[in-house]
Amino acid sequence: MILEKIIRLVEEAGKILMEATDIEACVEEKSGRANFVTEYDKKVQDFLFQGLKEILPGAVFIGEEEESHAALPKGYAFIIDPIDGTTNFMKGYRMSCISVGLVKGGCPEIGVVYNPYQKEMFWAKKGEGAFCNGKAIRVSEHALSDGLVLVGTSPYNEELSGRSFEWAYELFTRSLDIRRSGSAALDLCSLAAGRAEFYFELILSPWDFAAGALILEEAGGTILSVEGKELTFDQKQGIVAGNSKAIEAWKELMESGVLA
Ligand code: IPD
Ligand code: CA
Ligand code: CA
Repeated sequence: MILEKIIRLVEEAGKILMEATDIEACVEEKSGRANFVTEYDKKVQDFLFQGLKEILPGAVFIGEEEESHAALPKGYAFIIDPIDGTTNFMKGYRMSCISVGLVKGGCPEIGVVYNPYQKEMFWAKKGEGAFCNGKAIRVSEHALSDGLVLVGTSPYNEELSGRSFEWAYELFTRSLDIRRSGSAALDLCSLAAGRAEFYFELILSPWDFAAGALILEEAGGTILSVEGKELTFDQKQGIVAGNSKAIEAWKELMESGVLA
């Protein structure tokens, strides 16, 4: 089965993160504010490309650390973030993951997200539910007012900082508290596992959410673009995600002009 093979491969790739040494010596800057890549991002990406090629020959690969990115084909494509949470990884903050999404004709079919620090393997297959370490997971039923809000700061896009923190403030005053993990894929999995209620980030790339979006939807959650539209997997976009109550509360805040 493809899903099981991907899970085994991603688990194996997790060892590259866990065994990494001297990370700060192999950091390079990328374009944008505070945007870095390490040798390990590339190592994990190469390892996944090799393995996934054998699992599904003919699939297109779209990996964050490639020089240029293929267009989404009509057939299968793997959309990969070899390390989501690179700044955390560089700092030894122990909150990063490997994210592998498989889409067909632009629609997600499989999502696998692995946090090797917590040894938590999240996965979903379209129509078959979402799981963490083999146990079915589900979004929470708490309202926003009784919930945790996960904030994505779009760190590489300084022009979005003001708006991000205005949203964070408004949502903070309407919830129990906010959190900032440093990994978009793990934020989506936290919603899916019912550990938090709402998440937003004003710009993300498809590899940040390709796997997590399916895991969240299969766990009963909703993910939309910040314009309130269906997600697409071929371009950068802002996203909002959460359980149905939190998404409704967000829509009201948008309609009333509290969030702009
Ligand atoms: C980043 C993380 C972070 C989010 C950024 C992403 P990276 O991915 O998911 O939480 O705020 O927008 O780009 O660069 O660590 O793979
Ligand atoms: Ca990422
Ligand atoms: Ca990354």
